[in-house]
Amino acid sequence: MNLKDYIARVDNYPEEGIVFRDITPLMANGEAFAEATNQIVDYAKELEVDVVVGPEARGFIVGCPVAYELNIGFIPVRKKGKLPREVIEIDYSLEYGTNTLTIHADSIKPGQRVLIIDDLLATGGTVKASIDLVEKLGGIVVGCAFLIELTDLNGREKIKGYNIKALMDY
Ligand code: PRP
Ligand code: ADE
Repeated sequence: MNLKDYIARVDNYPEEGIVFRDITPLMANGEAFAEATNQIVDYAKELEVDVVVGPEARGFIVGCPVAYELNIGFIPVRKKGKLPREVIEIDYSLEYGTNTLTIHADSIKPGQRVLIIDDLLATGGTVKASIDLVEKLGGIVVGCAFLIELTDLNGREKIKGYNIKALMDY
């Protein structure tokens, strides 16, 4: 199976000049979604992961089935104002904007081994902000997994030294 057959290209969305890679056809196909999930699960099994962290919203879609398969927990990183209890927060920029991300202050225990999962690595702003939140709480980021990496945007440079897995490149 070629997972790229299930990624739609949308030109000039959400802004002029952006080539948006839409994962919803992959999500809508049970075999493709399972194949992508299993590939990330295989990657995670070598890392002895204690918990999965995923940024809103597409990180939830990709991260939760992986956490379920591994029988471990999932911790959401959310945009500001969405988490109900005490949070720590960080400002960040992404390919088409800036925002603030938050995580519950008691969500990660110091020393826990964390796998960060998102649908797509573009500039790396979102994953770098997620890493910084995890590390502020004492977590150890043992890997970062994505369905898609947009290589021209050099997101890898922003998270140099971390273990990175992407299932598809554009
Ligand atoms: C998208 C995508 C990644 C991020 C990648 O999320 O799901 O999280 O951008 O871009 P970066 O590497 O330049 O940071 P978005 O903030 O659009 O949110 P959504 O998942 O809620 O649509
Ligand atoms: N998130 C950031 N850049 C993106 C892109 N080009 N396509 C889909 N999601 C994105």
